Amino acid sequence: MLDEAAIRKVDRSGIVRDLAALPDQLIRGLAIGGGLGPLAVGRRVTVVGMGGSAIAGEVLAAWLGAERGLPLAVVKDSVLPAWVGDGDLVVAVSYSGNTLETLAATREAVVRGCDLVGLSSGGTLGDLCRGRGYPFGSLPSGLQPRAAFGTLLGALAGLHDANVHGEVRQAAEIVRDLGKPLGPSVAAARNPAKKLAQKLRGRTPIVYATPTYAPVARRWQTELNEMAKVLAWASVLPEADHNELVGWDGDAAARRFAPVFLRDPAEAEDHARMMDATRDLIKRRTKIEEVRAKGPSLLSRMLSTVQLGDFTSVYLAVLRKVDPTPVAVIGKLKDRLAKT
Ligand code: PA5
Repeated sequence: MLDEAAIRKVDRSGIVRDLAALPDQLIRGLAIGGGLGPLAVGRRVTVVGMGGSAIAGEVLAAWLGAERGLPLAVVKDSVLPAWVGDGDLVVAVSYSGNTLETLAATREAVVRGCDLVGLSSGGTLGDLCRGRGYPFGSLPSGLQPRAAFGTLLGALAGLHDANVHGEVRQAAEIVRDLGKPLGPSVAAARNPAKKLAQKLRGRTPIVYATPTYAPVARRWQTELNEMAKVLAWASVLPEADHNELVGWDGDAAARRFAPVFLRDPAEAEDHARMMDATRDLIKRRTKIEEVRAKGPSLLSRMLSTVQLGDFTSVYLAVLRKVDPTPVAVIGKLKDRLAKT
């Protein structure tokens, strides 16, 4: 079911190759962002973007916040918070360059006198930045936004200092190695992504993480949604222990769900204790999966966990016999909103 021929047959446009290019994309993105200069250094930075474009900002923000003490806010809305203002750096990220919410927030940033940087493969955002002389990073076109994750993250990181560049470069090489067993040519028996896809088949994944890994869990959710075309959710501990846990305890439908715990070997002791305790309670109600992040640095562990989720979602699509690339319903909604 998950041999290379079966994958090629369902994954008609070969999106699995784009996912495998994550390390190269990170390096290419760094060159794009780095070429604009260290614009984010010493600044209050707000990234505006939606969906597959925003998630790169969210993963970077979680890592920068946890390890570098650098605050980076991500706004996924057409409305900018009131605290974004004159002198702030706003980085508008839209792979297509045409997303309504991102464009509205970007125009508002211009009105408020923010410094603006644009990242897109073209579209209206490209025109706006070029037309008004704002720095603009031009991304390679022809991908699904979610398949440009590495380029987007690299470009955003490129706006930071040389230490950040160095960490991203190092993480890219670790991810390259860790990604080898996940590829389509590796048999299911030796391929953790294929094995996990088989376990998730027919169940609704709920991906659990601690706060630093929240955007990684969210990336898993969105990849499962868009690649495999299944409902899936991400949930963050400790908050979920104060509400969602009760649902696990009382809902007769618990067995339909597949909780996936994303674990970091260096997670704080209190986080480890609550993940263990929650897992043990939930596993009385349904079968759980646990993923242990790999890599010597936090960034490499976060990115390699993203990579595992990306491959798993494509293999789940193959098992479900749905082409992972098209997301027609998002296009339909965008068309309708553009007319109103
Ligand atoms: O994955 C997708 O296709 C979506 O989540 C898009 O990323 C989202 O609609 C925003 O579009 P764009 O990334 O082109 O701004």
